[in-house]
Amino acid sequence: MSQSDLFGAPAEAGVTVSSPAEVAAALREQLNAHAHRYHVLDAPSIPDAEYDRLFQALQALEAEHPELRTPDSPTQRVLGQVLDGFEPVRHAVPMLSIRTETDTEASGAEAFDARVRRELALPDDAPPVQYAAELKFDGLAINLRYEHGVLVQAATRGDGETGENVTQNIRTIGQIPLRLQGPGAGASAPVLEVRGEVYMRRDDFEALNERQRQHGAKTFVNPRNAAAGAVRQLDPAIAAQRPLSFFAYGLGEVQGWDVPDTHSALLDALAAMGLPVCAERTVAEGASGTSGLVAFHQAIGARRDQLPFDIDGVVYKVNRRDLQERLGFVTREPRWAVAHKYPAQEQLTQVEGIDIQVGRTGKLTPVARLKPVFVGGVTVTNATLHNLFELRRKGVRLGDTVIVRRAGDVIPEVVGVVAPEGGRPAYVPNFRMPRTCPVCDSTVLREPGEVDHRCTGGLFCAAQRKQALLHFAQRRAMDIEGLGDKLVDQLVDGGVVRTLPELYKLGVAKLAALDRMADKSAQNLVAALEKSKQTTLPRFLFGLGIRHVGEATAKDLAKHFGQIDRIMDASEAALLAVRDVGPVVAHSLRTFFDQAHNREVVEQLRACGVSWLEHDGAALVDPATLPLHGKTLVLTGTLPTLSRDEAKALIEAAGGKVAGSVSKKTSYVVAGEEAGSKLDKARELGLTVLDEAGLQALLAAAVATVAAAGAEPAAPQDGSGPTG
Ligand code: IVH
Repeated sequence: MSQSDLFGAPAEAGVTVSSPAEVAAALREQLNAHAHRYHVLDAPSIPDAEYDRLFQALQALEAEHPELRTPDSPTQRVLGQVLDGFEPVRHAVPMLSIRTETDTEASGAEAFDARVRRELALPDDAPPVQYAAELKFDGLAINLRYEHGVLVQAATRGDGETGENVTQNIRTIGQIPLRLQGPGAGASAPVLEVRGEVYMRRDDFEALNERQRQHGAKTFVNPRNAAAGAVRQLDPAIAAQRPLSFFAYGLGEVQGWDVPDTHSALLDALAAMGLPVCAERTVAEGASGTSGLVAFHQAIGARRDQLPFDIDGVVYKVNRRDLQERLGFVTREPRWAVAHKYPAQEQLTQVEGIDIQVGRTGKLTPVARLKPVFVGGVTVTNATLHNLFELRRKGVRLGDTVIVRRAGDVIPEVVGVVAPEGGRPAYVPNFRMPRTCPVCDSTVLREPGEVDHRCTGGLFCAAQRKQALLHFAQRRAMDIEGLGDKLVDQLVDGGVVRTLPELYKLGVAKLAALDRMADKSAQNLVAALEKSKQTTLPRFLFGLGIRHVGEATAKDLAKHFGQIDRIMDASEAALLAVRDVGPVVAHSLRTFFDQAHNREVVEQLRACGVSWLEHDGAALVDPATLPLHGKTLVLTGTLPTLSRDEAKALIEAAGGKVAGSVSKKTSYVVAGEEAGSKLDKARELGLTVLDEAGLQALLAAAVATVAAAGAEPAAPQDGSGPTG
């Protein structure tokens, strides 16, 4: 492959072949633009394989011409030495902190507005002051220094005057541009320091801790600590494996850029330069009485648990910069900003007992019984200790004071022990895992190399049976309205329901005989059971509660095989052909369906009238799942082997559209010999240009994905994309 077609310009007659420096620059620009689309906009426009191809081309070019390696090259994201320590960095402009409004009620916002008006000496009849309201992210503050648009240094806040040089680790964060983009003067200013928060998303944090747990390694207390640890990690290779994110919220030193007049316009400008800026923000007017700030605080508070990351409050900033300057600051806090907090997500309380809970798959979880404590907006009385090894590592014992964390929808957990003053009591018996299941008395086993203890009772165990019923009935599975835990307890403890099919044999009379069950409720439940019989294969499959088969996997399996019998009979090898199904999932499915009683459950449920639409797998392809769905391609010039009609047919079969003219909406331009103005237009718009080989590669990747995945696009779903 020649250098020129790597970055999309087929060598045509009359086109001079670019110099290596030009090729490298073009590759850098393309890769950086793709990384921005992938990490910041969440809208990748090329397959990972294509990104990798461009990346490797740049790497090869730089290996041949080391002088072409620039600091903004995506190849430089993950290269770095293990350090002995971090160099100090003196901040050109001190990094301030924010005053916290201790009053977490509405009056907190009003008090701030009143103070601002007083300090600006505004008369009572002056119009309301405008504020930018944004989130207070719970991570750590970072100063990113760009010189002429290129990231040259990243430093922690430290004491506000002097921080630490953590450039090497910050470079590994895919969301942070190595070069600013856009036509504005800011993106090429001699100096532009951008300040913001490095944080870890909750799902990334949970996954990181789960990995640590499964390896019996130390877990992180909360996303903030995990993020701070990663930023201050001396080995950049380890830092690169910790999934970090970033939001910009302000400026440090600036030279050669006319900063916008308002904070909200500044954030818009930073976003236009390719920096991640949180969309959860607003501009509101302060006023006596009902204030937009209070509304923002309340609206965000109501949705706090659903945000993908931790926040500890919201921040209000006087929007106009001239007013900010007039207000100035006291000690290290600006008078023009305030943090309005929410209830803490971590609290101290005492351990009153340690119970064992038996889960749906038989896993025994030690759970701390706690002195009730208000944390993350609710009263918590139990918190998980995950497993024996984690409990031991944390050293949790009866009577200890512990830190409890509750954030988002995640179940509360004990994250650590606060050492008691004067040391521990002389002797406290150690916690032991029971040898038999506390619910059904079956043997408890721990597989070699695993951290979890499990009850071997299976559906003989009432606890597992209850959890299995609740799992089956949940909204995302069979959606049996009204079948909650109280009722399941009664049904199982009373011996009324032992298996899933027995649910469908419940009649109004049997139900109405239960404690506190009115006729009406019994009728409603029977109706709900009846309604649930019409379902879909993914819901049914998910509802069976097969270990490691979550909702997404159930969907993939249904799409791939189309029929339950094919899934029940599929070999491990056949299962491995399904998207995202690895050996663990394949083995778990095989084990489940190798047991006659599990197949019997499926048969009985079908006999009860549970049904869904079956199809023959790949034939029922949802167009939205085709790999080129939503992509528009334009053909220009003569391709070496494909006729225009052939190319069009291939693209359409993969779900793409072929258009006659090039526009911003064009995804790819496929150019052959004697390509004309369409190619020029494509270059002007910075579109990806493919030659026939490039098109074939795109289609091959598409076909392979459809074949392997039962028609699911190759969209990257995790951090495994273009990180360089
Ligand atoms: S502005 C004007 N905006 O809070 C003062 N800080 O207590 C400069 N923080 O160290 C900070 N979200 O780490 C600002 N939207 C936000 C923020 C934010 C979180 C953190 C930041 C800072 C601390 C100040």
